[in-house]
Amino acid sequence: MLKAKIAGLGYYVPERIVTNEELTKYMDTSDEWIQERTGIKERRYADKHKETTSTMAAHAARIAIDRAGISKEEIDFIIFATLSPDYYFPGCGVLLQRELGITSQECGALDIRNQCSGFVYGLSIADQFIKSGMYKNILLVGSEMHSMGLDFSDEGRNVTVIFGDGAGAVVLQPTTDEGKGILTTCLHSDGTNAEELAMINPGSHGGYHLGTEKFGYPDVNTPGGVFVTQKMVDDNLLAPNMSGQLVFKTAVVKFPEVIHEALDKTGLTTADIDVLVPHQANLRISQFIQRSLRLPDDKVINNIQKYGNTTAASIPIALCEAWESGKIKDGSLVCLAAFGSGFTWGSALIRW
Ligand code: UT7
Repeated sequence: MLKAKIAGLGYYVPERIVTNEELTKYMDTSDEWIQERTGIKERRYADKHKETTSTMAAHAARIAIDRAGISKEEIDFIIFATLSPDYYFPGCGVLLQRELGITSQECGALDIRNQCSGFVYGLSIADQFIKSGMYKNILLVGSEMHSMGLDFSDEGRNVTVIFGDGAGAVVLQPTTDEGKGILTTCLHSDGTNAEELAMINPGSHGGYHLGTEKFGYPDVNTPGGVFVTQKMVDDNLLAPNMSGQLVFKTAVVKFPEVIHEALDKTGLTTADIDVLVPHQANLRISQFIQRSLRLPDDKVINNIQKYGNTTAASIPIALCEAWESGKIKDGSLVCLAAFGSGFTWGSALIRW
């Protein structure tokens, strides 16, 4: 029976470190508040003059491809997860293909928009393609350049202090090794609270102000339309918004639930988990999950302290760091879990 395994992995974070202290220059916040509520000490911001979401992804991808022991031309499918793409369209998958210099038109590229769960969703898609025999070398990337789209005024502080930039990549290949590879993936969604963690403008609604007027700003109905209106700029609507407490309360329920679901499906228990890599949403959320699953400190990977929340990139970056540090060994049972905007959430169990 064919399974998918992670054959190579890599990550990239930009050089520029932005401390909590630096953020206090732009908005009314404090190192103490940020650390106490989120655990974050610093994050990285990309260089806007020479980096984009897809160039960061390419750095991570080159490492993953090299570690998988293949050439870039052997990649037969690209899956790119991001909420902060280079362009509104086309998606980052083809930009990454071009950046890597993959000239083979045999390679397909798929972009997925599942925010914090993007990597787990991508892993599940890759798993199905590999198990079916359709592809042999899938490049899966999560990359985010949040710093270009955040609101650095006091109004945006609850969102802005959390997020950072970075990229993580894996190469997936088939394996027939007994018991090894991706054992299962679980995916879920519930659109009820879609706007509670979202960047709503610009969009096909023509301007949407949460809590006040709904669809269609006055200046969008002229022939030709106006995608980004002056009113959106004036009303400061071109940034993400988040109901932090709702996200927090839902996340601490859904994370353990979806991890138990994966364990139940495979006949395993929490005691079998060697390494848990949760999406790095908030250190307090990860600590809550750890307590709920009764896992010891050394089994849970936390790096949000130095990178913040990098959304689709957070799991592959943390996974790669854990692997590089020797925490993930041959035979380790690795559990990935994510929750975020949508809301969407998911988990994966991998026997390394
Ligand atoms: O990947 C998924 C992405 N999102 C998440 O996982 C987010 C989950 N939620 C959270 O992490 C937390 O809800 C936050 C860290 C975002 C906020 O923490 P909180 O304990 O829920 O704070 P709050 O939103 O209830 O705000 C408490 C106070 C408010 O002031 P008042 O009304 O009590 O005077 C906020 O205005 O903290 C204020 N506040 C800040 N103060 C200093 C909000 N953001 C900041 C800030 N610095 N950055």
